[in-house]
Amino acid sequence: MDDFQPVRGIFRNSQLERADGPGLNPTRNQTMGEIIAARFSRRGFMRGAMAVTAISATVSPMALMSADAAQVKGRVEGSAFDFPEVTAGVDADHHVAEGYDADVLIRWGDKVLADAPEFNPANQSEAAQEKQFGYNNDYVGFIPLDGAHDHGLLVVNHEYTNEELMFPGIVTVEAGEVVVAPATEERVNIEMAAHGGTIIEIRRENGKWRTVPEGGMNRRITAKTPMQLTGPAAGHARMQTNADPSGREVLGTINNCAGGVTPWGTYVMAEENFHGYFLGELPQGHAEAANYERLGVPGGNYDWGRFHGRFDLAQEPNEPNRFGWVVEVDPMDPTAVPKKRTALGRFKHEGAESALSKDGRVVFYLGDDERFDYVYKFVTAGTYNPDDRAANMDLLDEGTLYVARFDDGGGMEWLPLVQGEGPLTAENGFESQADVVIEARRAADLLGATPMDRPEDVEPNPENGHVYVMLTNNTKREEANAANPRTENAFGHIIEIIEEGGDLAATRGTWEILVKCGDPSIAEVGATFSTATTENGWFGMPDNCAVDADGRLWVSTDGNSPSETGRTDGLWALDTEGEARGTSRLFYRVPVGAEMCGPCMTPDMATFFVAVQHPADGGDDWEEFGRPSYYEDLSTRWPDFRDNMPTRPSVVAITKQGGGRIG
Ligand code: FEO
Ligand code: CA
Ligand code: CA
Ligand code: CA
Repeated sequence: MDDFQPVRGIFRNSQLERADGPGLNPTRNQTMGEIIAARFSRRGFMRGAMAVTAISATVSPMALMSADAAQVKGRVEGSAFDFPEVTAGVDADHHVAEGYDADVLIRWGDKVLADAPEFNPANQSEAAQEKQFGYNNDYVGFIPLDGAHDHGLLVVNHEYTNEELMFPGIVTVEAGEVVVAPATEERVNIEMAAHGGTIIEIRRENGKWRTVPEGGMNRRITAKTPMQLTGPAAGHARMQTNADPSGREVLGTINNCAGGVTPWGTYVMAEENFHGYFLGELPQGHAEAANYERLGVPGGNYDWGRFHGRFDLAQEPNEPNRFGWVVEVDPMDPTAVPKKRTALGRFKHEGAESALSKDGRVVFYLGDDERFDYVYKFVTAGTYNPDDRAANMDLLDEGTLYVARFDDGGGMEWLPLVQGEGPLTAENGFESQADVVIEARRAADLLGATPMDRPEDVEPNPENGHVYVMLTNNTKREEANAANPRTENAFGHIIEIIEEGGDLAATRGTWEILVKCGDPSIAEVGATFSTATTENGWFGMPDNCAVDADGRLWVSTDGNSPSETGRTDGLWALDTEGEARGTSRLFYRVPVGAEMCGPCMTPDMATFFVAVQHPADGGDDWEEFGRPSYYEDLSTRWPDFRDNMPTRPSVVAITKQGGGRIG
């Protein structure tokens, strides 16, 4: 494969998430609606350009006054939140609400293990990266140690790598487009080491958090870490490869997006856009062809298969069946082998937050992030034992996977993906539960699940049995339905599920649209934030989210930009109850080009950890920069702002000045 071509365009890996294709679900026939999409984007650009002007050098006192007037300074009647709102906009730095500190806790390249070398971006190596914090932090979880709120383990996913931002000397710009040189084997190995996850001990002393590199549980998990496959698909012929005839052992985890922490304190990593890591062609007539087509395998976004044959379909045609799972890691034991829990199904897993049902079973909420794909949940067969951690360690191997059907009348049903029930029979290619979980999407197609506008994070409020579903966008939808009410849905929406009887294990519920996102001042957008929401408070493209210890919803976004919404991504507080329901306000915003991930509030509500992912990704659409951004010419060098240091994805700890509860 020596004719491997340079990759053009700076967004090749971000495109994995933007999913510019029409969606892969063959049960709907969608085409582009370019006219409306183009109108939104042009309007967005004009608004964005105006917003940038308003906050750059020549700000008039009038403009400042009107910006102030449009901010929420205190409590909105009935709101669960009370903080001074950040002004939405775009610049090279991050911004948090007045009265709060936002301190960088750990950056790409910082030490995770005590013997890690100092970060040297000009001389990166696989060996160094395996001991340092990885790239593109996404999910963040906090696991208290010793029952304390100021000491614990931070668990962080590293979703993917942006080579053009990471590596010196690999980019040329041709006709205004970034061209990334084909990878070397060394570069691929560094990329693989920058994927996966981090487990690191952290402490708060004198009000400030710091990492503890000598922590005995610290660990890096990478795209090469040995893992086990467990549950119904483990050992099945479809999981067997030349390197692993047992079908039970796999190397590494990739594209770990959101995730979760279980009630027994394990770290759950969701494998999302795994298709992008495979290249090559299946042998003619191979049995997995339809399975892979439904998932977009091979995506060909990375060069790994040129050096690691398992990512080349011609060499290891079954390897893609070993990705797209939920991975459970015991963070308390750095020698524990991570387990891919196949009972939770195989698709483009976004997150895996969980809570207990009324009878003590554990319920995991799962999004499948693709246009026209589905919302799932998994209910364990066994119950959680709060007194015996070991008894919970394999709960994820037995249970029922369900997919959601949202009915137009406001009801919904969770449909079980169980072999032998309904259409999930041998005649339809489901000989065993292994086939059902390996091809969970096709099983859900046959059950009549509702195709959604890209399900991202899904989080329950265990107190009242309400569940929040982030639907990030879908500009390819031509036919609206009640649960996906907008065609050309450029800005996404949030659904609230009310599980029957307030029980998360219920197989029925009702649902409502909590908010349709986008700029409420543009009538055609059809956004439905409350009228108390200011021009700073609205957002588009909800992605990760968090429900805090008080049951309040926080939403982080992916895709706000100068041209789309005239603002960067950020973290918004969104009221779900009472007269303030649907009121959103901006708490924190990221530097240009970044996406907002995490977010994770500590149980005492005194710290919010947020993950700033891919800062400086892009630059063309930001008027002040106006050209492609890459290692040698970055749109921001956040967070270090040093000439010889590239931008670094980082986890930020937000605390209230003088201490106290956030928000
Ligand atoms: Fe990795 Fe669907 O966001
Ligand atoms: Ca992401
Ligand atoms: Ca996400
Ligand atoms: Ca996303």
